Amino acid sequence: MLRLALGALVAITLAPTLVFAALVIAGQLSPLAALVSLAAVIAGAAGLAMIWAEDVRLVRRALRAAADPQAAPNSRPPPSLPQMGLLSRDIDRLSRQLAERDAMLSRLLKTDEIIIETLPDPLLVLGEDRAVKRTNRAARTAFDNDIQAVLRQPILRDAIGRALKNDATPVQAEFALAVPIPRDIVATLLTLDPPLPDGGRLILVLSDRTRERALERMRADFVANASHELRTPLASLIGFIDTLRGPARDDPPARDRFLGIMAEQAERMNRLIADLLSLSRVELTEHQPPREPIDPRALTERMLAEMEPRALDRQIRIELSGPEAVPPVLGDADQLMQVLQNLLDNAVKYGKSGGRVRVLVEPVQAGRWPNRPGVLLAVSDDGPGIAKSHLPRLTERFYRVDKGRSRSVGGTGLGLAIVKHVVNRHRGQLVIESEEGKGATFLVWLPAVQEPATPS
Ligand SMILES: Nc1ncnc2c1ncn2[C@@H]1O[C@H](COP(=O)(O)OP(=O)(O)O)[C@@H](O)[C@H]1O
Ligand SMILES: [Mg+2]
Repeated sequence: MLRLALGALVAITLAPTLVFAALVIAGQLSPLAALVSLAAVIAGAAGLAMIWAEDVRLVRRALRAAADPQAAPNSRPPPSLPQMGLLSRDIDRLSRQLAERDAMLSRLLKTDEIIIETLPDPLLVLGEDRAVKRTNRAARTAFDNDIQAVLRQPILRDAIGRALKNDATPVQAEFALAVPIPRDIVATLLTLDPPLPDGGRLILVLSDRTRERALERMRADFVANASHELRTPLASLIGFIDTLRGPARDDPPARDRFLGIMAEQAERMNRLIADLLSLSRVELTEHQPPREPIDPRALTERMLAEMEPRALDRQIRIELSGPEAVPPVLGDADQLMQVLQNLLDNAVKYGKSGGRVRVLVEPVQAGRWPNRPGVLLAVSDDGPGIAKSHLPRLTERFYRVDKGRSRSVGGTGLGLAIVKHVVNRHRGQLVIESEEGKGATFLVWLPAVQEPATPS
């Protein structure tokens, strides 16, 4: 500062000093007058130099503050020279803009961080050397300590190699993990060009597709099963049509017999299609619970009356128990009728001929059922029952303990699958209890209509 002021002083006074000296030497100015004038010039110059040096100091401080937006804004006096004042104000404006931009940048960075961290799919950032630079929460939960093992999967390693070589198009790879649990993973790799400041070169998203793949397999199985179930009666119909056109053309007794079988097969196809349609209807509405209040007891009585003739065919007695009045449930009457029909149909079909089927409708709360008002519908028979090993799979589509027996009594293998989906749609519960040789009990719990709290 002092040096700056001295420099300025010398620069300002040099020319007048030389002029005064020349005038004294030429005898145009007395030495005394020259000295006095010089002193006046030096005094003025010194003052100006001081002001100027101070202004430069202030501007420099303003510049330093602008370069470091973190620094707290301190109040500086404005420079004294007008041009310096303008300069200082420009610097202040620039510094404010820089600070705003800085704040915006850190906000953006933080948002990015949050988005990546909360992304539902596991995400990793790898360096050029394949080292893991960053992981998000999903990646840490899904793979925890196995990330290195995952990265060693040959298919993924190849894909990473390809992605590192070719940075234009995203690379995808699919592979299966066997441990700790079997998983189907789809990896998407995106190369970063230029790399991130921390050296991140590759974004790797590992999406778990296990559920989707299982669903796809289930759908494919379902279509194959349904086609197979339809094809069997259809093949038999085609066979009999050929026979009736050919060898049996002039054989009235055979023709009558064949037409009887054909009617049975056509009826079987009809039942199968009806069940397939019910199943898809229930599935389509499964996400929206029904809203009609329904009296489960009245519904059951109606269904029992309908089933009576079929039960009589096998000399089976159906008994209804439970209180006359039960709380209403929120339901879909047609679908609940179908539940009862399918359960009673099974009880009558698979129960002991000459035996007894018991139906219970009663309000329940707590115990093995949810701790809210509900109604239990139970259908028990005294037939051969079902072995434990079959119980968990009974509600799968087309699953039958004894295919031949189910077919011979007109079963489609879809009855319990429909029951399960209807119960799910009603937000209820289905429990199957059975022991071989000791009959079977099917329990359906449905939530009761919640009474609005009445002021007392
Ligand atoms: N009450 C029952 N007693 C014994 N087995 C039963 C009973 N109900 C169902 N099952 C078994 O569960 C299987 C699936 O039942 P369901 O889905 O209704 O198909 P379907 O009756 O058309 O064969 C039946 O094939 C049968 O083996
Ligand atoms: Mg059935």
